[in-house]
Amino acid sequence: MRFQNKVAIITGAASGMGQLAAKLFIEEGGFVVMTDINADAVTAAATELSPDHQQAVGVQADVRLYEEVQQVADEAMKKFGRIDVLMNFAGGAESRVLNCHKPFYEMPVEVIDWGLDVNLKGAVYFCRAVMGQMVQQQSGVIINLGSISGVEGSGGAVNYSAAKSGIIGLTKSLALSGAKQGVRACCVSPGPVLTRPGMANMKTRLGRAADPEEVVDLILYLCSDKAGFITGSNYLIDGGRSCGGMD
Ligand SMILES: NC(=O)c1ccc[n+]([C@@H]2O[C@H](COP(=O)([O-])OP(=O)(O)OC[C@H]3O[C@@H](n4cnc5c(N)ncnc54)[C@H](O)[C@@H]3O)[C@@H](O)[C@H]2O)c1
Repeated sequence: MRFQNKVAIITGAASGMGQLAAKLFIEEGGFVVMTDINADAVTAAATELSPDHQQAVGVQADVRLYEEVQQVADEAMKKFGRIDVLMNFAGGAESRVLNCHKPFYEMPVEVIDWGLDVNLKGAVYFCRAVMGQMVQQQSGVIINLGSISGVEGSGGAVNYSAAKSGIIGLTKSLALSGAKQGVRACCVSPGPVLTRPGMANMKTRLGRAADPEEVVDLILYLCSDKAGFITGSNYLIDGGRSCGGMD
């Protein structure tokens, strides 16, 4: 019960690793505000995890809009009275999500903006919205999702890759800014994760993609008090892909 009475805001919680993180956080005694742009899905996910909404609530928000982001933080304070953890899962490669597979130099500006705004600006906004409360509490943990693409680069998802590199800088800067006030920040950069079958085709040294739980387990460890000496670090969890030599 590592998260007894702890309160987490989890973005991108309507599906994939965000939804799984919410489930496991609750199972260890915590409370979650699950947020996503997909209103129906996030409400349904929260209701499934906590039918009486005592432990989980779903709140619709687009991470690109600061007003909506602030409303999620306000809702967490109103419902649970504190914010101990922020996990920024909302994101995705613009080429895949918007089904636009043009070369970078022909990419429509709207697609570029989506890649940067959802994957980087949204995380910046959420960190901004929760950090004041964490500083006031003199404790808090922020987990940002990077990607192997933010370390290796990606010819097919240039903006995604740039945003995920930015997430590493964001995390280090938050760690520096929060260190004296009890706020830790960590980045987790996965290789391919089987939140969708297509990821099985991406090569790793271990010859497979990650089970979502393998990544979420690392994230929850970093959220826990056991990781109290860890801040500012970027954790690659990529089946050895970053060792190089993959073609
Ligand atoms: N799956 C992988 O192979 C992989 C690899 C490396 C990094 N990641 C990163 O991990 C995170 C989670 O990945 P996943 O595979 O679980 O993703 P997913 O696609 O299952 O979930 C992403 C969620 O973000 C939400 N979202 C999209 N735009 C949004 C917006 N503007 N505002 C609010 N929510 C929005 C979606 O509705 C979705 O529920 C992402 O940041 C992703 O980039 C994933």
